[in-house]
Amino acid sequence: MKHTKDFDTYYRNIWKERWDALKSSFKGEPEYFTLEKGLLKPYFLDKASTCPAQALDVQPGDSVLDLCAAPGGKTLILALAKGEAGTLVANDKSADRRMRLKTVIKEHLPAPIAETVHITGYDAATWGLYQKDMYDRVLLDAPCSSERHVLSSPHYLAQWTPARTKQLAIRQFAMLAAALDAAKPGGRIVYSTCSISPLENDGVVEKLFKKRKDMFDIIELEPEIGEKTRYGIQILPDTAGAGPIYYCCLEKRHG
Ligand SMILES: C[S@@+](CC[C@H](N)C(=O)[O-])C[C@H]1O[C@@H](n2cnc3c(N)ncnc32)[C@H](O)[C@@H]1O
Repeated sequence: MKHTKDFDTYYRNIWKERWDALKSSFKGEPEYFTLEKGLLKPYFLDKASTCPAQALDVQPGDSVLDLCAAPGGKTLILALAKGEAGTLVANDKSADRRMRLKTVIKEHLPAPIAETVHITGYDAATWGLYQKDMYDRVLLDAPCSSERHVLSSPHYLAQWTPARTKQLAIRQFAMLAAALDAAKPGGRIVYSTCSISPLENDGVVEKLFKKRKDMFDIIELEPEIGEKTRYGIQILPDTAGAGPIYYCCLEKRHG
């Protein structure tokens, strides 16, 4: 019970008078989107989840890195946009989740596109040590607090502490720095989470500005759904009926 109260107090302090509406909107079903054009069979995902993948603006023949890819909804969007040319590296550190990713790719993507998708299992935070300036497009859909999920699970709620979001933000920053390293000069990086903790969203981008401000620019987006934050877009279920999703789009500078 104590953790439930701590969780509530923590997020009420952030979201103030909006918190009650936001919290109750987490209990409803999000608006689902059916991905089907170009797939062998339809794949269903939260409508908001499609936005970060679309914001990456993958072009036919691009080299694409999806650093935290499983179970693979966004990978499908990136793969379809890339087509039969180019390459897509779909990485995920969890072996169990990589199995699901493999199945999703096999069951949904036509073979000529599936053959260009390479599944790997590395730690996203260290990627930049091995491959620098390699990819036209990099998606970092980072592991995050997933408050919607926590609220629906007494087990996860009992484990929650305010330290969790701070620790996650540290890991997310390391992964975002690696994503920036992996992108080609002029390449695009999208950072996304399904958290409503500002520390894990604009806070991570803010830290990148402090440490590496000469290396990138923010790309301003004009999305159909969502609210602008300092650096990105946040889609919240109390107003959009989908999400939560946060995403921010960066372009790596030349030189
Ligand atoms: C938000 S989920 C990704 C959802 C996925 N992009 C999609 O659209 O289906 C985050 C993923 O990051 C993976 N992950 C966690 N820590 C990681 C790390 N250090 N390196 C790579 N992947 C990691 C998790 O296994 C999880 O599958």
